[in-house]
Parts: sequence; C-alpha cells; structure tokens
Amino acid sequence: MVELKQVGKLLSELDYSEIDARDEQIRSTIANRTGAGNDFLGWTNYVSNLAEEEVTRLVNCANRLRKNYDCLVVVGIGGSYLGARAAIEALNGLFPSDPFKIYFLGNTLSSNYTYQILEQLRGKRFAINVISKSGTTTEPAIAFRLLKQMLEEEFGHEYLKDAIVATTDRAKGALKQEADHEGYEQFVIPDDIGGRYSVITPVGLLPIACSGVNIKAFLEGVKQAEIDYSPKKSYKENLAYKYGATRYLLYKNKHLPVEMFVSYELQYAMINEWLKQLFAESEGKDKKGLLPDSVTFTTDLHSVGQFIQDGSPILFETIINTKLPQYDITIHTDKENLDGLNYLADKKLSYVNQKAFEGTLKAHTEDGNTFANIITIEKMDAANLGNLFYFFMQATAYSAYLLDINPFNQPGVEIYKKNMFFLLGKPGSKK
Ligand code: PA5
Repeated sequence: MVELKQVGKLLSELDYSEIDARDEQIRSTIANRTGAGNDFLGWTNYVSNLAEEEVTRLVNCANRLRKNYDCLVVVGIGGSYLGARAAIEALNGLFPSDPFKIYFLGNTLSSNYTYQILEQLRGKRFAINVISKSGTTTEPAIAFRLLKQMLEEEFGHEYLKDAIVATTDRAKGALKQEADHEGYEQFVIPDDIGGRYSVITPVGLLPIACSGVNIKAFLEGVKQAEIDYSPKKSYKENLAYKYGATRYLLYKNKHLPVEMFVSYELQYAMINEWLKQLFAESEGKDKKGLLPDSVTFTTDLHSVGQFIQDGSPILFETIINTKLPQYDITIHTDKENLDGLNYLADKKLSYVNQKAFEGTLKAHTEDGNTFANIITIEKMDAANLGNLFYFFMQATAYSAYLLDINPFNQPGVEIYKKNMFFLLGKPGSKK
C-alpha cells in the first residue's frame, strides 16, 4: 500500500554492493530473532496473532467510554503516547467535529500545560486511559495522580473504577498493582514489544478506537504490511528495506547525518514526532545513528526551506505524501481580482498544495543537492496508516542492524531520570 520513489542526483552514485552482501543476514536476524535485542521483536507478527476477542474487547471498551463520558484523557509519554496521537490527528484532523474530545497529558512536566488541561477538564465527566509499560514513569504517574484527585473531589472515589482503563505490563509495575487493587479494566502491553513499536498494540489501539476510528481497518492495514514488508523479501522487493538500506548508505557513504521528515499536511506533524522517536531512540547509540528532524511544508518553506535548499549539505529528505486529501476546497473567481488570484479560480486547494510539492521537490533535488525518499499512500485512512506505521518499524529494524546497533533498547534515556530522581530526593536514588 506504500509506494517508494527516490529522487536526486545522488541516486546514481549510491552503491548497494554492501547491502547485496549483507541483506540476507540482516533479514534472517529479524526473521529468526537472533540479533541484539531479539526479545523485543514481538511487533513483527503481533497483529496476525491478535485474538479476535481482544479486538472486540478493545472496541467494546472504546464504545463504553464514548457513550458514558464527555471526553477521554490519554495519559502517557514517548512510545506510550506518540503513536496514538499521531494516528488520531492524522486521521481525524486537528479540529475534529466529533463531540467526544481526546486530551493528552502525562507527556510533560510543564506546570503551564498541565494546569491548562486540568482547567479545561474541570467539571467534565471524563474518562482516563493511563498507559505505561513500566508503570513507574514519572510524567504519566504525576498526571494520573492529579487527574484522579480532580475526579475524586468532583464525583467521589466510586466514579474512578469504571472511568479508568489501564494499559500496562501483564504482571509488574506500580500501575499494574494499582489497577488490580482498584479493579480498573486493563489491557496488556506485551513483554516483547517496546514502547516505540507499540502503536499497533492496545497502547495505540484503545485511544485510536476512542477517537471514532475503525481499528479493525487499521489492523487489516498492519496485517497486509506483515506480508508487504516481510523479512522473507529481499531489499530489492521489500520497500521498507529498500528505504532502510538507502538511508543507511546516505549516512555512511554520503556523509548525510540528518534525515528530514517532510509532509505537506499540518495534521501529520505528530507522525513526524512518532518517526523522530522511532529512529532516534532506536539508532542513536554507540556514537552512531542519523538525527531525525521534521518540517511541515509549505509552512516551514517560509522558515527552514532556505537552509534545506542552500545551507550546509548535511541532510536528505523523507517525504510522507498522500495522493488524495480527506477534504478539499475550490478557489472561487473574484470579479475584481484585486489579489490577482483569478488564475487559480476553480482550482482545488489540494491541487495548489500538490504543485507546491512538485516545485519544492524540483528546487531541492535538481537545483539544490538534496536527495528525497518519497513515501506515498493513496489516502490517509486507517488501513493505509496501519500499513505505513509497520513499514517504518521494519525499516528501522533493518537500518539499525545495518549499523550494528540494538534497535530495541534506550540506555541513554535512563541517565536523565537517575539525575532527576537524585535531585528530587526519591527514596533509594543514587548520584
Ligand atoms: O519507546 C520507549 O520505550 C519509551 O519511549 C517509553 O515508551 C517511554 O519512556 C514511556 O515508558 P513507559 O511506557 O514505561 O511509561
């Protein structure tokens, strides 16, 4: 369901002989789970093994929350947050007409943001989906405590049991203990799936379903992706691996350490954030890895566009493109034509956006020196998005193994936590 086109002067210079030599071994590392971090490859076939009853339970839970509450607060951070938000915004837009609103909290320690969301929620009969694999992450734990306190004060302790759904580990962690103790409905984050690969599990599925999206269609898209981007297919037939191999070669042989994710839709900005975590946390280790960055055009053509066209030659682009918009607008004729725009009369706004894309691509890849991977889906719908997420997860695993990096751990993330806990005086924390 994903199309991949690669454009730029560098295309003819890319030498895939290293990939030809290593492709089979890298694919076998993924398929047979023999590489570093191999106990975190559960996402590769999670969806095709997902029980029908579990999907039904997720759909029923989402319907119950939508029916019984004013809105939902999704509490989580990193991999327990970004995928759900990326999907909900990309599929429903930034100003959805659905009266059942979704809020996100626990993704920051900012008192300004937290205060303002809490004020928005005051007086509302809201539900909470608290998501944490470890069950101990500070940001969501604080937000969850604050939200429970607000609900308890307004509606009493008995309100909490049905209003809270916990998505967490099957056995361990403070959240699991509390959920068991209080009798909250629960969904399990599998042991063998890390946060940034978990959007296809209840971590993403429940909030996405609560936003009114058909998760069965989303799961069909992932199931199809398990076939489309299977490690049985060499990088010559597997587009996820072709893309993964290309970005590795651009980094290693063409010395381009920055991958700029580009879209032409403001509502895809959180897809870019999800991609940034997926690649940065998977690859940024052992003094290696590409730095992911992102822009939304045409908005950012008026800020970062100058650098991409003409600045330090450190980056290549990966463009997420959709052929059909979800909504469109026709530009009308104006009798006076004082703004001189009548040459666009009767044209669709999506047509103008498409021409901006084509013009920018030409400017960057022909007049400038940028290389671009163009990843296209027909339209942004649940099935195509499921397929796209999985495409990138397979590409990440392949690229990271080419770099000889464990794609599934994140040792660097722990260091700030250790320092913060010591400074906050958490019992048992060390300098
Ligand atoms: O990808 C990851 O593993 C991380 O981003 C985690 O998802 C994030 O740190 C949140 O962790 P937890 O789900 O344990 O609260």
